Amino acid sequence: MSAPPFTPPDRAAVLCGLAGWLPPRVVTNEELSQRLDTSDAWIRTRTGISGRHFAEPGQATSDLAVEAGRRALRSAGAEDVDAVVVATTTPDRSCPATAPLVASRLGLTGVAAFDVSAVCTGFVYGLASAASLITAGVAERVLLIGADTYSTIVDPHDRANAIIFGDGAGAVVLRAGRSDEPGAVGHFDLGSDGTGEELIMVAAGGSRQRSASNPIDPQDRYFTMRGKEVYRHAVTRMTASAHATLTLADRKVDDIDRIVPHQANLRILRSVAEDLGLPPERLVTNVESVGNTGAASIPLALADAAAQHTIQAGERVLLTAFGGGLTWGSCLLTWPALSRIDRPHDTGGTQES
Ligand code: UT7
Repeated sequence: MSAPPFTPPDRAAVLCGLAGWLPPRVVTNEELSQRLDTSDAWIRTRTGISGRHFAEPGQATSDLAVEAGRRALRSAGAEDVDAVVVATTTPDRSCPATAPLVASRLGLTGVAAFDVSAVCTGFVYGLASAASLITAGVAERVLLIGADTYSTIVDPHDRANAIIFGDGAGAVVLRAGRSDEPGAVGHFDLGSDGTGEELIMVAAGGSRQRSASNPIDPQDRYFTMRGKEVYRHAVTRMTASAHATLTLADRKVDDIDRIVPHQANLRILRSVAEDLGLPPERLVTNVESVGNTGAASIPLALADAAAQHTIQAGERVLLTAFGGGLTWGSCLLTWPALSRIDRPHDTGGTQES
């Protein structure tokens, strides 16, 4: 007789808590137009964005992550977890990771804590990592936070990027459960193509630049993106990844009630929904008021939609993301009944869902 499996075959990671947090400072298109050669009309037409939030000077990614993490734990009714995963492109420092600091500040000293770096796909990669800790039997409960402060790496004089990105954090709590429960995450599709490394990058700060003998160009400290090419990749990769996930799950596009893509640019999101053949009302967006918040964008969009009852318990939800690397990924889940959702824009109290 063979030994029983280490974990039951239907063990799954189940989403049981969700929250988002945005720094209070709102930067409107009008404010950007005063210091950049741009206009509210150009930004709205090309991106759909009307405002974004910026962290205050001195505020780092962990500060935002702690706020979102605390609220997600409250939403889950959880006081502790076995692991904290932080997905970010803007860690507090290049060494050490941000997650251990976030865990300690949440009173979770001693738990496993690590960062995931997959740029704007970070949340989906983090979700797969956090869920794997649970399905492997390593953890019973995991806090996953997507947090970014792009305002710290975008050149404020770069009009193409300064208009797109914003700061924020979103978090989920996963617990061990069964694969047939609402909230069970998976199937997943994850992918990458490193030949596109230079399409989205920060040239300086890593070992490539530090090992070079030539002096640093101060401009290399900033985030750069080849917008037009990235735009095309974002549409095709998110669409293909969504299809791949549906195939893995033996589902059809018609089975999807809500699609929550990485909030890159409203035109990109509409193209993905259109290419998939999904009616526009099934597309969940909040890029209009928060911009592109990197690894925070999917949990922020989820928290916004859940707090406003745009996503309802029992609906089948498809998450899909694309980012630097290049990286992409998607995940399917049935939305669970969550008891408390914090609204990302509300930096004060909580709201019953
Ligand atoms: O999270 C990763 C995913 N990344 C993204 O989602 C970004 C994807 N890319 C985009 O969203 C778009 O490419 C941008 C919004 C960045 C740019 O829009 P676009 O329609 O691709 O514009 P473009 O780069 O082709 O530029 C068109 C024109 C250029 O002027 P010329 O060369 O035609 O004279 C730009 O210099 O628009 C100009 N331009 C601007 N004008 C006013 C670029 N940025 C601005 C601006 N305001 N902010």
